[in-house]
Amino acid sequence: MLNNIFNFVTSNIIDYIPEQIIDFFSRKYIAGPSLSDAIKATIDLNSKGIMSTIDVLGESVVNEDQTIFFRNECIKVLETIKKESLNANLSLKPTQMGLVINKALCYENIRKIVKRAKELDNFVRIDMENSPYTTDTLKMYRLLREEFPGHVGTVLQAYLRRTVDDIERLSDKPLNIRLCKGIYIEPYKIAYKNPQLINENYIYCLEKLFSKKAYVGIATHDEKLIFHAMRLIEKYNLKTNDYEFQMLMGIGDELRDFILSKKHRLRIYVPYGKEWLSYVRRRLKENPNIIMTALGIK
Ligand code: FDA
Repeated sequence: MLNNIFNFVTSNIIDYIPEQIIDFFSRKYIAGPSLSDAIKATIDLNSKGIMSTIDVLGESVVNEDQTIFFRNECIKVLETIKKESLNANLSLKPTQMGLVINKALCYENIRKIVKRAKELDNFVRIDMENSPYTTDTLKMYRLLREEFPGHVGTVLQAYLRRTVDDIERLSDKPLNIRLCKGIYIEPYKIAYKNPQLINENYIYCLEKLFSKKAYVGIATHDEKLIFHAMRLIEKYNLKTNDYEFQMLMGIGDELRDFILSKKHRLRIYVPYGKEWLSYVRRRLKENPNIIMTALGIK
């Protein structure tokens, strides 16, 4: 009870906690400020048999030059992965590439990155942001997978009521989907709020994806979902290369070991960069218990 009250109060005041204090908690979730930090983290993960997806932190960009900066940085990530022979790919956010200001610019930026990924035999995952951007993100994914099949994927969120229909709509061609619960605050009208329902929809969507032979990044730290995913993998007789588990940096070390011990493939999301504030605030809101643990209260 006391814990629930603490979580409720904390998650509502996180936006008002000064940046210097949030910085203290950020270290757990991000590799560091520069690409070399993400590369170091990836080398470490690769040495443990874990793949990574590198994310350049930054979102809601409203300046065209800045979108070009992020586009070039993403290309640099792909080129460095190649140069260092790492087992890693790239994740990016549409609003980092200009979706807030200009859809055509955003598409062209992402297209250039995916084109480079194809040249380097790599892969780009387009993250899913909040619901005003869902339709445009899926449209871009559709176009890009047509032009660069096998080199691009996107994300679907189990909390959205539309997701089951999106799977149906998208499954006319081979699908590469990261399935997550969804992290943004969405209205009841379009999103499930009940955690149990979100989980049920997650399993429903996962089974639908498997039945449509999609490649799925099973992105969750929820043990119950991982349990069900492992049963579905067995039911559909999937090979190790037909799917992967995905987790965020800084969360669930024991789960990582468990997944690896069962011989499943695992990829860790490795964010780096100077624009870490929104990302870390979202993570802390999701789990305010971290603040208690760090302060030694729990
Ligand atoms: P849940 O929130 O129930 O957490 C299960 C357990 O994990 C908790 O009990 C706790 O132990 C641990 N945990 C979860 N969050 C934690 C935290 N912040 N700190 C410490 N422990 C924590 N979302 C989105 O909307 N768009 C996207 O593109 C992505 N991309 C993405 C990539 C990857 C690789 C992952 C793993 C997740 C995402 N997400 C995302 C985030 C996702 O939607 C979701 O918010 C988080 O994964 C938390 O949900 P879980 O499924 O882990 O369950």
